[in-house]
Amino acid sequence: MASIILGILLILVPLPLSAEAQTSGNLTFSNSLTANDRNSSLLSPSGEFAFGFQKMGQGVHLLAIWFEMIEEKTIVWSANGDNLAPEGSKVQLIANRGLVLTDPRGRELWYSNLTATGLAGLAYAAMLDTGNFILASASHVNLWDSFSQPTDTILPTQQLNLGATVTARYSEMNYSAGRFHFKLREDGNLSFYATPHPLDDESDIYWRSNTPGSGIQLIFNQSGQVSLTARNGTVLKVITSVTNLTSGFYQRAILEYDGVFRHYVHPKLANLSSGWPKGWSNVSDPVPENICTSIVQNIGSGACGLNSYCTLGNDLRPRCQCPLGYTLLDSMNEMNGCIQEFAPQNCNGSRRETDQFDFREMPNTDWPRSDYEHSAAPTEEWCREACRADCLCAVAIFNRETCWKKKLPLSNGRMDLSEDGKALIKFRINDSTSKSTGNGNKNSTLIIIGSVLLSSSVFVNLLLLLITYLIYRSFRSRDSKLSQPVQINQAIGTQTFTYQELQEATDQFKEELGRGAFGTVYKGVLRSEYTNFVAVKLLATRTGESEKEFEREVIAIGQTNHKNLVQLLGYCNEGQHRLLVYEFMSNGTLADFLFGASRPSWYRRIEIACDVARGLSYLHDDCTRHIIHCDIKPQNILLDGSLTAKISDFGLAKLLMANQTRTTTGVRGTRGYLAPEWFKNMPISSKVDVYSFGILLVELICCRKNYKPESEIEAQIVLVDWAYDCYHDGSILKLVESDDEASSDIKRVGRFVMTALWCIQEDPSLRPTMKKITQMLEGAVEVPVPPVSSSFITSV
Ligand SMILES: *[C@@H]1O[C@H](CO)[C@@H](O)[C@H](O)[C@H]1NC(C)=O
Ligand SMILES: *[C@@H]1O[C@H](CO)[C@@H](O)[C@H](O)[C@H]1NC(C)=O
Ligand SMILES: *[C@@H]1O[C@H](CO)[C@@H](O)[C@H](O)[C@H]1NC(C)=O
Ligand SMILES: *[C@@H]1O[C@H](CO)[C@@H](O)[C@H](O)[C@H]1NC(C)=O
Ligand SMILES: *[C@@H]1O[C@H](CO)[C@@H](O)[C@H](O)[C@H]1NC(C)=O
Ligand SMILES: *[C@@H]1O[C@H](CO)[C@@H](O)[C@H](O)[C@H]1NC(C)=O
Ligand SMILES: *[C@@H]1O[C@H](CO)[C@@H](O)[C@H](O)[C@H]1NC(C)=O
Ligand SMILES: *[C@@H]1O[C@H](CO)[C@@H](O)[C@H](O)[C@H]1NC(C)=O
Ligand SMILES: *[C@@H]1O[C@H](CO)[C@@H](O)[C@H](O)[C@H]1NC(C)=O
Ligand SMILES: *[C@@H]1O[C@H](CO)[C@@H](O)[C@H](O)[C@H]1NC(C)=O
Ligand SMILES: *[C@@H]1O[C@H](CO)[C@@H](O)[C@H](O)[C@H]1NC(C)=O
Ligand SMILES: *[C@@H]1O[C@H](CO)[C@@H](O)[C@H](O)[C@H]1NC(C)=O
Repeated sequence: MASIILGILLILVPLPLSAEAQTSGNLTFSNSLTANDRNSSLLSPSGEFAFGFQKMGQGVHLLAIWFEMIEEKTIVWSANGDNLAPEGSKVQLIANRGLVLTDPRGRELWYSNLTATGLAGLAYAAMLDTGNFILASASHVNLWDSFSQPTDTILPTQQLNLGATVTARYSEMNYSAGRFHFKLREDGNLSFYATPHPLDDESDIYWRSNTPGSGIQLIFNQSGQVSLTARNGTVLKVITSVTNLTSGFYQRAILEYDGVFRHYVHPKLANLSSGWPKGWSNVSDPVPENICTSIVQNIGSGACGLNSYCTLGNDLRPRCQCPLGYTLLDSMNEMNGCIQEFAPQNCNGSRRETDQFDFREMPNTDWPRSDYEHSAAPTEEWCREACRADCLCAVAIFNRETCWKKKLPLSNGRMDLSEDGKALIKFRINDSTSKSTGNGNKNSTLIIIGSVLLSSSVFVNLLLLLITYLIYRSFRSRDSKLSQPVQINQAIGTQTFTYQELQEATDQFKEELGRGAFGTVYKGVLRSEYTNFVAVKLLATRTGESEKEFEREVIAIGQTNHKNLVQLLGYCNEGQHRLLVYEFMSNGTLADFLFGASRPSWYRRIEIACDVARGLSYLHDDCTRHIIHCDIKPQNILLDGSLTAKISDFGLAKLLMANQTRTTTGVRGTRGYLAPEWFKNMPISSKVDVYSFGILLVELICCRKNYKPESEIEAQIVLVDWAYDCYHDGSILKLVESDDEASSDIKRVGRFVMTALWCIQEDPSLRPTMKKITQMLEGAVEVPVPPVSSSFITSV
């Protein structure tokens, strides 16, 4: 009775709207939990665990158990990951049925699996301090508990018995069952499987405990050990363990969506901004230690999706990446595999297109079990020619005078030092079939005007852009009292949001991602697609300039659509509130990636250079209106979940339209990446971006900042000068001395350095176009010897 009164009291007390209210006490036949913002969870007596509904997005909830006292509210068990509950769903005890989750129309979404005797004795349900949620009889006999129906996590004091299965979720935010599970088998092995439909359990095991003499229980004890024990209680094998753990820590062990079992600890009395720390040395190794090389499937894709390859990061986490020439099938999920970007080779006997294909090298890379042919090959060149002449060959592996031909789709891909073969990835040199993804609305005045610009010179373009912009401005200001975002909306095909929607999406602008000159960027999640994060840029509204910037940025970005540009999804223009909504880039800026603690691989840097070049080439030449970025630098290049580089922040393009006078004080962009014409009385063209790209390219090659005043050797303070000297002296190897990958690919390094030297020519007309540069980087055209520059501009 007391608990019901408490529950009612809780409802009567006015609660802050966003806070989820908690109820302490038990669930009985006379009360329930409702999926809404009020009494949606039940706390354990200590308050450390909660059972109830967690909102997974607008209007859908997950019935779950989580850690309540830490900010991250980490979920340790869930009931309905495959079938989320709509707002207003209820969980309650029903006689003769057990614990039942029903939607507002009374349909059952999930129910507890009780035996007939269990049902007869059922009296109450309680959340315990261990994190176990139990159904019990009036005499406190445990009839059902969440510990014996684990999802992907196990907790201290939890034991798994023979036959128990733990299943990874589908992705970090999607609690549906995923591809991986482990099972305590009747033969005494704890075995990990890589298949959602275990037709052939035996062959798909990627890790097994090999415990002699039958393990029968998996025990997670309070002192931080997950171990397999025998019938007589002896520990047969320690699976994971944490040493010297005090009681001041929470622990959990989880089979994560990438197929790896990890043991985490979190201090009880602190909220760590990084969540559960991942790299403490006193915390146990993951199982298996290297998932990339552990999985080899006869049927199936391996650790990553088809056509991708897996690398183990310094944090021991797998990354799934696409080889050059391939792109993610689902840009939101890097584990879903890759597809070829170019048109496949023609197999018609009379026209094999052998001259149209070349190879990209990836050392230490293999796709085991995708071969269809192998032969003795005297040289690598022989292997290349054999694959080039064979239209079915997608990749060749050359290893110890053997050539292996592989066909699509490629499976079990990995790049790992234990692989001693070199992969040769076939790609189409002259690829005009890919890209051109832009398919914006073709019915707006803006675009019609824009299309006129296509083939005119840069100057005429700028003039037209200015006119377009002014027309647009006057059109906007006439209507501004009525505030008709719908009109912009139709013109550019982006979505409009209300301020309140974005406030909710960002949880009151809680998580800041970054700050720029014009505003602050926050992380958010949209109501319609609750698994999709977005970046919301809240513009500072005080100065007139940023209002203009808003309009311009919306105009410029709304129409662009390319995989190497950060996509503008929508915006809000409500009173003084001006916000832009972009796709979320989970791997942050290139500056952090490149100049951070660990050096990204040479092959990743090559891809990034090509990505940025393609994005710029699109901006300059291919999109309906030619856009000059004006501020290309590593801080403005963002990396998505699959480390594809995307250009962000087109805000500065506005200067070309609004402010035609270019004094040094009015110079936009970032010093160091600026082309010399910004400082002289010279026309500004897309070649300013080419210059900035050249600086960026040298930084990518050498993995250091262009300007390093603390450098001991004076000649090395300005990187591009040093690169020029090295090129001139024929000692390019010096630039990548400590980088084995790049050193062993010195021909390409040379080509990249030459390309960069072309980009940073003082005379803009000597600099190639971005389109040409893209071809130079890809090796589709020869890079001519760059001219000797009399003086290098060292603008720092
Ligand atoms: C829940 O029920 C159990 C068993 O009846 C009881 O021991 C416990 O005190 C109850 N908890 C609360 C908060 O009422
Ligand atoms: C939650 O609120 C509903 C009414 O909205 C009530 O029927 C129910 O008993 C409450 N649950 C608890 C556990 O207090
Ligand atoms: C951690 O965050 C939670 C909820 O956000 C809060 O209730 C708790 O007091 C915080 N703990 C500490 C130690 O700051
Ligand atoms: C309940 O669980 C047991 C063991 O996990 C299983 O054999 C049985 O089929 C389940 N019953 C229902 C109705 O799901
Ligand atoms: C989770 O992934 C599954 C499998 O792809 C999909 O069917 C389901 O709709 C996803 N659920 C959510 C909430 O996105
Ligand atoms: C565990 O699996 C291995 C490999 O299949 C097998 O050799 C071993 O006998 C199994 N262990 C037990 C206890 O059956
Ligand atoms: C317990 O069982 C294991 C194998 O099942 C055996 O090796 C061990 O000696 C036994 N220990 C005791 C104390 O009986
Ligand atoms: C936990 O397990 C380890 C190994 O089995 C054992 O040494 C330790 O005493 C156990 N701790 C507790 C609290 O049972
Ligand atoms: C654990 O504690 C022991 C004794 O205090 C100490 O010798 C040992 O180095 C500690 N281990 C770790 C990993 O901190
Ligand atoms: C692990 O070690 C780090 C530093 O060595 C320490 O701060 C942390 O508290 C330790 N974690 C645990 C769980 O003991
Ligand atoms: C193969 O190429 C020849 C000559 O180019 C052409 O006539 C023929 O139609 C092609 N066959 C196919 C199946 O494309
Ligand atoms: C690339 O393709 C275009 C048209 O398909 C063709 O005109 C051009 O010669 C090709 N270039 C090379 C290097 O093959």
